[in-house]
Amino acid sequence: MDLGLRGKRAIVTGGSRGIGRCCAIALAREGVSVCIAARTQEVLERVVEEINETGGKGHAVAVDLTIQENCEKVVQETVEIFGGVDILVNNVGAARNADILELPTELIDDALKLKSYSYLRMSQLVIPYMKANRWGRIINIAGGAGTSPTRGNIPTGVANITILNMTRALSDAVAGDGILVNTVCPGLTNTARARTQQRARAEREGREVEELLRYLGSELPAGRIAQPEEIANVVTFLASEACSYVFGSSVYMDGGGRRATP
Ligand SMILES: NC(=O)c1ccc[n+]([C@@H]2O[C@H](COP(=O)([O-])OP(=O)(O)OC[C@H]3O[C@@H](n4cnc5c(N)ncnc54)[C@H](OP(=O)(O)O)[C@@H]3O)[C@@H](O)[C@H]2O)c1
Repeated sequence: MDLGLRGKRAIVTGGSRGIGRCCAIALAREGVSVCIAARTQEVLERVVEEINETGGKGHAVAVDLTIQENCEKVVQETVEIFGGVDILVNNVGAARNADILELPTELIDDALKLKSYSYLRMSQLVIPYMKANRWGRIINIAGGAGTSPTRGNIPTGVANITILNMTRALSDAVAGDGILVNTVCPGLTNTARARTQQRARAEREGREVEELLRYLGSELPAGRIAQPEEIANVVTFLASEACSYVFGSSVYMDGGGRRATP
């Protein structure tokens, strides 16, 4: 299948590690110029090298995306360097969680600021460029906790449900301009964040994090947790010309673990 991505220009937030890094590299392999944004310059630079090794063109902006001006800087630099923006992958996220009975509400504020607000701000900033070309793709990375809450991950869940909600509304607002807005909801995925999140439970239960991740995977119909490259493959399709009639939808990539229909 020709994805029709050659020559497009993308921004991937949180593109230095995990799912974001894999999305940036997967898009670059299809001929997309990719700007990645996260806070840590040296980690970003390594990923820019990986992007450039694919033959693509990479650029990095080291910023904290909880701040509106920094979101503006990412879009401005992308437009200056690549000449426009066609694809936005909103992926940044690192919510801190605690049990609901002891949860400081500030953690919910933090999760909303980092994830929901940055996703909305970045979308608002890139949409004028997409409208000008009458072509655009916005892919929001949410997560299963949005629709399947547990007592231990309310900040993540609240941020994710707002993203699912926003995706539908944004999709309606820009569908007529050739812009497709969709969500990917990964389940537990083999990244540094998954390890950090499961560390407390592993310590509580006196087991290794790796063994706990294998156990959690074995409980899923798929028999294993996701690899970030698998999430990136679906994101790349949703970002492509080949994906032309998917509007305001969510793709659940949870190894079949979700107990809801459809
Ligand atoms: N892994 C999972 O099991 C899983 C499951 C469901 C959903 N998700 C979602 O998938 C997305 C990616 O997760 P991941 O596991 O790949 O995470 P990760 O490995 O922790 O990567 C997070 C990325 O976000 C950047 N970042 C964090 N805080 C930032 C800030 N304030 N400003 C700018 N950049 C920031 C990080 O770089 P710096 O720290 O250098 O800034 C990094 O590039 C998240 O939205 C997450 O909620 C993940």
